[in-house]
Amino acid sequence: MILETERLVLDTWQGSDWTELRPIATDVEVMRYITAGAPWTDEQIRAFVDRQVKLYSERNFCRWKLLVKPEREMIGFCGVGFWRDAPDPEIGWWLARKWWGQGLATEAARTALQHAFKHAGLDRIISAARPENTASTRIMEKLGLTRECEFENEGVRLVRYAIDHLRWAQTNESPLP
Ligand SMILES: CC(C)(COP(=O)(O)OP(=O)(O)OC[C@H]1O[C@@H](n2cnc3c(N)ncnc32)[C@H](O)[C@@H]1OP(=O)(O)O)[C@@H](O)C(=O)NCCC(=O)NCCS
Repeated sequence: MILETERLVLDTWQGSDWTELRPIATDVEVMRYITAGAPWTDEQIRAFVDRQVKLYSERNFCRWKLLVKPEREMIGFCGVGFWRDAPDPEIGWWLARKWWGQGLATEAARTALQHAFKHAGLDRIISAARPENTASTRIMEKLGLTRECEFENEGVRLVRYAIDHLRWAQTNESPLP
């Protein structure tokens, strides 16, 4: 399954793709609100990619690999996975720094959310971020997620947004004639 937007291809992962994620997951600016700037190790990056391969094969969704048209350069990921031990699937996004500020994460996330509700059959999707990560919380708002609560995880303050299938359908699908 390959999804497309105007500027992007959302693709599934191969185990060997982890090397393409390494420059992104080791950029201190990308990691600023994720690990307080600490780069991921190769082991963490490999494990992330392996989780996406398994998740897609078992559940038909994942944090899609993002390729920008026309060259299909890998610029990050966007999609639904599982955040820590939270029971609800979580949508998230990371882009290589040079691609920030062009609406690409929102463009990818709209399509990933549509796929998750319409094709993967999910009922409710959350998203979590540090409250000061305003680029990320702004995307959540643009997608129609609503803020539910602030909480703490391993000493880090986070905010949780969520949307359920019914509310997503009410704002994204035309009523039946
Ligand atoms: C978060 C991230 C994916 C955003 O990607 P992006 O393609 O630049 O996002 P978009 O352009 O689609 O949307 C970002 C929105 O936030 C706004 N925004 C960006 N930086 C902002 C800031 N510092 N303060 C307030 N708003 C900000 C943008 O103006 C835009 O909103 P708008 O369309 O209403 O103008 C990117 O910054 C990134 O990869 N960050 C590092 C990884 C990360 O933190 N991921 C999220 C973990 S929870």
